[in-house]
Amino acid sequence: MLLKIYKIIKKKNKSKIICLTSYSKNFAEEIDKHADIVLVGDSLGSVLYNYNTTRKVTLQNMIEHSKSVRMGVKKSLMVVDMPYQTYRSKSEAINNVRKLMKLTKCDAVKLEGGQKIKKIIEHLVKNKIPVLGHIGILPQSVKGKFKVKGKSQTERKRLIKEAKLLEKLGVFGIVLECIETKLAKKITKEIKIPTIGIGSSKYCDGQVLVTDDLIGLNKTNIRFVKKFVDIKKELNKGIKKFKQEVILGKYPSKKYSY
Ligand code: KIV
Repeated sequence: MLLKIYKIIKKKNKSKIICLTSYSKNFAEEIDKHADIVLVGDSLGSVLYNYNTTRKVTLQNMIEHSKSVRMGVKKSLMVVDMPYQTYRSKSEAINNVRKLMKLTKCDAVKLEGGQKIKKIIEHLVKNKIPVLGHIGILPQSVKGKFKVKGKSQTERKRLIKEAKLLEKLGVFGIVLECIETKLAKKITKEIKIPTIGIGSSKYCDGQVLVTDDLIGLNKTNIRFVKKFVDIKKELNKGIKKFKQEVILGKYPSKKYSY
């Protein structure tokens, strides 16, 4: 696991880091062939459970999905999101992280925030837990619409300070979510650990997307999401064919019968 993290850090300024979400084994198996990091994101709350906020996702949800993902991830680093209200104090965080890591055998965890969770991250890193940071838009803290970060001077200063703080605390990388281009570029340049962008321009050291979004399975109109393939079309083709053949009595033919 440490070797995988080392390899990811070494990619900075050399080649891009590829990170994608997965919530189950079959997706994980395919993503693992191409990605450096497979993230079990708490975005599963909205993607799979139709929650209007990731705050409703529980530790148990993350454990169950991560167990499934673990079966499909062989070569990539497997990172799991710590859900809302599972890291409010040092003891709560370490107990929950240890439980999650023990039950899922994941390699690292991701926590949302900077200054506010400084003591928590410090404590986890001290206890040899590999942590991926996350600044910019923090879905667990947002009420209402998501807004791009880094528009005002105060916000820019704060985000640079938070990125540097996280680096100092020992996280191995930082997810930058919806950070304005110039600022994402500046942060990426000013820290030695990799940045992984989502809606934060091409200047980050890597990119992450929710897989269900990029394959067109999850309906979304977020500006930074590009639909790289329309999997729904293929899915519908297959389902229609199955239906037709069943109706016509063509399936199951002799070949598919005992
Ligand atoms: O929950 C998630 O999937 C995430 C990524 C999109 C960064 O945090």
